[in-house]
Amino acid sequence: MSVTVNIKKPVIKKSDEIYARAEKIIPSGTQTFSKGTNQFVRGFAPKYIAKGKGCYTWDVDGNKYLDMIMACHAKILGYADPDVNQAVKDQLDIGTTYSLPHELEVDVTEKLIDAIPCAEAARFGKNGADATSICVRVARANTNRDHIAYCGYHGWHDWYIANTDLNSGIPYFNQELAHSFAYNQIETLENIFNEYPDDIAVVIMEALTILEPKDNFLHKVKKLTHDHGALLAFDEVMTGFRFSFGGAQELTGVTPDIAAFAKAISNGIPLSAIVGKKDYMFCLDKTFFSFTYGGDCVGLAAANACIPKLKREKVSEHLHKVGKVLKDGYNKLAEQHGLADYTNCMGYPCRTVISFDGQGTYDSLEMKSFFQQEMIRRGVLWAAYHALTWSHKLEDIEYTLACYDEALAEFKKIVDKGDKIKYHLEGPPVEPVFRKVADFMSYTMKDKKVN
Ligand SMILES: Cc1ncc(COP(=O)(O)O)c(C=O)c1O
Repeated sequence: MSVTVNIKKPVIKKSDEIYARAEKIIPSGTQTFSKGTNQFVRGFAPKYIAKGKGCYTWDVDGNKYLDMIMACHAKILGYADPDVNQAVKDQLDIGTTYSLPHELEVDVTEKLIDAIPCAEAARFGKNGADATSICVRVARANTNRDHIAYCGYHGWHDWYIANTDLNSGIPYFNQELAHSFAYNQIETLENIFNEYPDDIAVVIMEALTILEPKDNFLHKVKKLTHDHGALLAFDEVMTGFRFSFGGAQELTGVTPDIAAFAKAISNGIPLSAIVGKKDYMFCLDKTFFSFTYGGDCVGLAAANACIPKLKREKVSEHLHKVGKVLKDGYNKLAEQHGLADYTNCMGYPCRTVISFDGQGTYDSLEMKSFFQQEMIRRGVLWAAYHALTWSHKLEDIEYTLACYDEALAEFKKIVDKGDKIKYHLEGPPVEPVFRKVADFMSYTMKDKKVN
């Protein structure tokens, strides 16, 4: 490869000074667990970002990074997109939230109806969890049932977190009402319906994740759900506008009854939406989903500029194109370094992850930490996934691959010497956010042949 890789351990000083103030007054030191210091090699990685532009960020010490995290996939165009920013600035000048609704609510609803197959109506929230929570409430209101079947990650609210190991403060009954099933294992959903034949209000799921649906899985889920009188909700917080302009439902041809969107809808300016069929959505005339910032115009102005741009620039196609170069390139490099059993890049090209398998010798989190350290050393902000955006151009992918080439070579040296990874880490390894996730959420290297 003819790309020059810049190698430089970042100087981390101001980050540590800010964190020293934060840890005394901000529980967990962060507002988002996946941005916490234990998700990065401490002492090596930056802790605070100062600014971003396109696919680049600068930390508070002035180190510049090619960003592969992109605010946890919230940015789909890139940081400080000029069109979205202009719309938001114009809105700021005339006020942001008012005493009566603003026309933007209607404008953005019309755009969602135009884009998303199941959308005949919409209501807005701020976080992805607002949208998945109201999906569940809408389903419960329509069916008069309490139980939920779910598959994937859906946010911080009680019914999802109840079945993780971070469930302190959540009343126990939530564990009894929420049942998780495994992607591509229809029998796990059948088991839930067998146990609760008339009690499931909704099957809520990430329709596409890292794995491809096999054996008509999504069609079977839809049929089973409807046969039992439940609603099908797709959580499109991650997939919406990314996997396809109309989301996973457009890509798979399986249309749910209702769906949750966030993140890419507004290029990361807070906004989320529940969309769905009128028959179900209009229970919201009386089902309570109402809050002061519900029609706040900052996120709506952002979405009003973002959605047309996503369509105009064919952003989803771009993500698939550059993502494929990255995915194929990584897997080829892993092969060339003789490390294909230890690591691979998997998932849909628009949303890939790097998976590690220590082959009985290495801890996968230590491997992830080592790669993170080596990528950051080369100026790539990295957390084992690729949150690609419209701003990531082919040259950025080539640079990332050149860094991977070197990181893989460094790891191969460890393998060849039979060394312990911890001797090569310049700080404590990263930790998992959840030790026990809601069952069945994980995928492993053994799934690598998928996609
Ligand atoms: C699929 C999915 N659903 C829901 C959520 C929750 O969204 P938020 O963190 O905005 O509440 C996320 C967040 O990453 C997500 O990936």
